[in-house]
Amino acid sequence: MVHNVLVTGANGQLGHCLQNAAADYTARGWQFFYTDVDTLDITDIEQIRKAVEKNHIDLIINTAAYTNVDQAESDEAAARTLNATAVGHLAAVAKEKNLLLIHISTDYVFDGKSTTPYKTDHPYHPVSVYGITKAEGEKAIMESGCRSVIVRTAWLYSEYGNHNFVKTMIRLGQERNELKVVNDKKGAPTYAPDLAKVLLMLADKYDGQGLEIFHFANEGEITWFDLATEIMRIAHFPCKVFPITSDQYPSPAERPDYSVFDLSKIKKYLGISIPDWKESLQKCVHNYGF
Ligand SMILES: NC(=O)c1ccc[n+]([C@@H]2O[C@H](COP(=O)([O-])OP(=O)(O)OC[C@H]3O[C@@H](n4cnc5c(N)ncnc54)[C@H](OP(=O)(O)O)[C@@H]3O)[C@@H](O)[C@H]2O)c1
Repeated sequence: MVHNVLVTGANGQLGHCLQNAAADYTARGWQFFYTDVDTLDITDIEQIRKAVEKNHIDLIINTAAYTNVDQAESDEAAARTLNATAVGHLAAVAKEKNLLLIHISTDYVFDGKSTTPYKTDHPYHPVSVYGITKAEGEKAIMESGCRSVIVRTAWLYSEYGNHNFVKTMIRLGQERNELKVVNDKKGAPTYAPDLAKVLLMLADKYDGQGLEIFHFANEGEITWFDLATEIMRIAHFPCKVFPITSDQYPSPAERPDYSVFDLSKIKKYLGISIPDWKESLQKCVHNYGF
C-alpha cells in the first residue's frame, strides 16, 4: 500500500535518518512530508489537523520529542508539553482521521531494575522526568484508541544530531589522552539508520486496528565504557578509556541501570535479523571519516 507520510521532528537525529531511508519507498510512490517545529509545531493540534488534511496524510511518524534528559529535570512543563500533551494531540488526530501513528519511545519508561531483557509488556516505572513524560505520551496514545505502533528504543546515535554519545566520544577522543566513562549501566546502542529502516518496514506491514508495541536496539549487551572503548579502537584514537561508576559521574537525572530489550517480538514480526552493535558502530565511525 502507498502512503502519504507526515514526519515530525524531521530535522532531528532520527528524522534525518528517516529522510535517508525513504528513497526505496518514494520509488514505490510513497510521499513524505518532512516537518519540524518551524513548519509544524506538534504542541498545536490545529496545525497537525491542517497538515494532515492538506496533504491527505494516512500515516504519521512522530520523531519529535523533548530529548534533553538532564534539562528535563528542571524543565518539567516543557518536557510534558512535547512528550505527552503533543503526543495526545497526534493520537487524537490519528483517531479522528483513522490514520496510523508510529511513535518513538524509550527504555526510560522502565526503572532499569530488571535483570533480564525487557519485554514490551513490562510495567512502567520511570525514574526521571523525561521517562515519566514519555510514559505519559504512550498512555495518551493508548487512551485515544487510535491505530498506532509504539517503538521503544535506547541509546540512539548516528552521524546527526547535537547530543549523541558516539559523536561526543569522537570529539573527545581527538582532544584528550584519557577519558573516564561509566561502566555500571548496561544496555545496547541503537544506530538510528537501523531504526529508521525498521520504522518504514513497520509502516509498510502493520495492518492492525489497535496498538502494538515493539522494542528495537542493536544486538548485544554492553556498558557505556565498552562503547567508548570500541569507538577509540575503531577510530584508532590513542585516548585511553578508564571505567568509573555512575556515583563518580553525577548528573541531574537518574538513569536506568539496565536497559537491555528483548528483541524477539520485532524480529519475528518483520522476519529480520538485527545488526550487532559493533557492526553498526563501525559503519557510523567510518562515516565520521575514521
Ligand atoms: N536520543 C536518544 O538517545 C533516544 C533514546 C531513546 C529514545 N529516543 C527517542 O527517539 C526519538 C527521536 O530522538 P532524536 O534523538 O532523533 O531526537 P532529536 O534529535 O532531539 O530530534 C527531535 C526533533 O524534534 C524537534 N521539535 C522540538 N519541538 C518540536 C515541536 N514542538 N514540534 C515539532 N518538532 C519539535 C526538535 O527541534 P529542535 O532541535 O529545534 O528543538 C528536533 O528537530 C524521540 O522520541 C526520543 O524520545 C531517543
